[in-house]
Amino acid sequence: MRVEAIVVAAGSGSRMRSETKKPYIRLQGVPLLIHTLRALQTCDLIERFVVVTAGEDRTYAEELIRKHMYGSFQLVSGGAERQDSVRCGLAAISEDTDVLLVHDAARPFVNAEEVRNVIEAAWQTGAATLGTPVKDTIKEVENGTVVRTLPRHKLFAIQTPQAFHPSLLREAHHQALAEGVQVTDDASLIEWLGKPVAIIPGSYRNIKITTPEDLVIAEAFLQS
Ligand code: CTP
Ligand code: MG
Repeated sequence: MRVEAIVVAAGSGSRMRSETKKPYIRLQGVPLLIHTLRALQTCDLIERFVVVTAGEDRTYAEELIRKHMYGSFQLVSGGAERQDSVRCGLAAISEDTDVLLVHDAARPFVNAEEVRNVIEAAWQTGAATLGTPVKDTIKEVENGTVVRTLPRHKLFAIQTPQAFHPSLLREAHHQALAEGVQVTDDASLIEWLGKPVAIIPGSYRNIKITTPEDLVIAEAFLQS
């Protein structure tokens, strides 16, 4: 089984409100993007990485990765939305890839077992994602008023990595582009096609670094 990974790092990080772009913020002196690539590399199944960055950061990111990492990788310029960046990455995936992993550069705490589990599930079923049962009660709200409360026992917070048969994800992105469908993760595109997505138990450590508080939590994880 040949596995390649797309790591998306082309976002603007607007919710972080930091001067340094999110993938290059340092945690214990090491850029977030490097933490994330190292975490993925602890799973020895991944043969090659396609790292998607903003066009203007490509050279910088390439130097960083060369300095900190071993293994095969390629840099690609991303697009305006996450979905566009994944599509840019897809164009650089090798034809003979059996399972394609898609991961956010903003999730540095994924572990080897989780990566392996999601890859193996996608190999069996076509599409799989990590997810955790939600801890909060989730309500749908409109104009500042609650519309309804969703039954918590059915709700999962969806993470990355997500993994797919490459042909399935290519088809999903192709059709979504043609029909102007925009979603926030790749599993949503598979659902939109009407195909099943397996949920693999993730961990509450696999946070997405999104707002400044997350940096404090991340530093604490790194120290523990
Ligand atoms: N991403 C990307 N291309 C985009 C938007 C997002 O590659 N056009 C990547 C981000 O770099 C990140 C991942 O998708 O690693 C998840 O996105 P998110 O956490 O929302 O990051 P940002 O979009 O950068 O942050 P924000 O939404 O706060 O602006
Ligand atoms: Mg975003």
